[in-house]
Amino acid sequence: MSTRILVLISGRGSNLAALVEAARANGWPAEVVGVISNRPQAAGLQWAREQGFHAQVVDHQAFASREAFDAALLAACQARQPDLVVLAGFMRVLGEAFVRHYESRLINIHPSLLPAFMGLHTHRRALQAGVKFAGATAHYVSVTLDHGPVIAQAAVPVRAHDTEHSLAQRVLQAEHRVLPLAVGWHVKGELQLQDGLVSHRQGASQALYFPD
Ligand code: GRF
Repeated sequence: MSTRILVLISGRGSNLAALVEAARANGWPAEVVGVISNRPQAAGLQWAREQGFHAQVVDHQAFASREAFDAALLAACQARQPDLVVLAGFMRVLGEAFVRHYESRLINIHPSLLPAFMGLHTHRRALQAGVKFAGATAHYVSVTLDHGPVIAQAAVPVRAHDTEHSLAQRVLQAEHRVLPLAVGWHVKGELQLQDGLVSHRQGASQALYFPD
């Protein structure tokens, strides 16, 4: 049975592209049934259309409240009948109703080693904190922002002369590896979620390190 994957984006869509590439290369029992962006100008929408995917906009600026946007987004998602929703560079905080509807089949990629640096501007904050490792976390989304059960993490070194841009680039490469890994495991039914903790049934490593 093929898993119907819906991907939500807000920008370039590089995580979307990495996901699609991994699905094709590994022959996942899954298909991308839609790409939805909250931003009309998201470059990832054009890429999705060129790939032949259903692509649509639910513009958060077109709604009077967060609740109204969330309700419209939920309706647009439900119309695609997804088995899994992936937030790939999606920059909106989703409300409780949305998260509860897709709980345990809603995966996000966050550009830090959670629980460190939840929220925005993670690379700037990591540099200001002087940490020596940064990275990305693929996690199930829970109602508490950037707090859901961790599926996999990829660490990268922070180098002496890193800027926010150079660190963001290094972390983005890690995102492109750890998100497809997590989604692939999910669609193949290889993940176990129990008491808020995620494990891999065959014991695959959920901790990656890219020292490049
Ligand atoms: C990236 O900076 C990433 O850290 C975060 O969303 C941003 C855009 O990603 N997850 P994408 O290129 O749109 O996937």
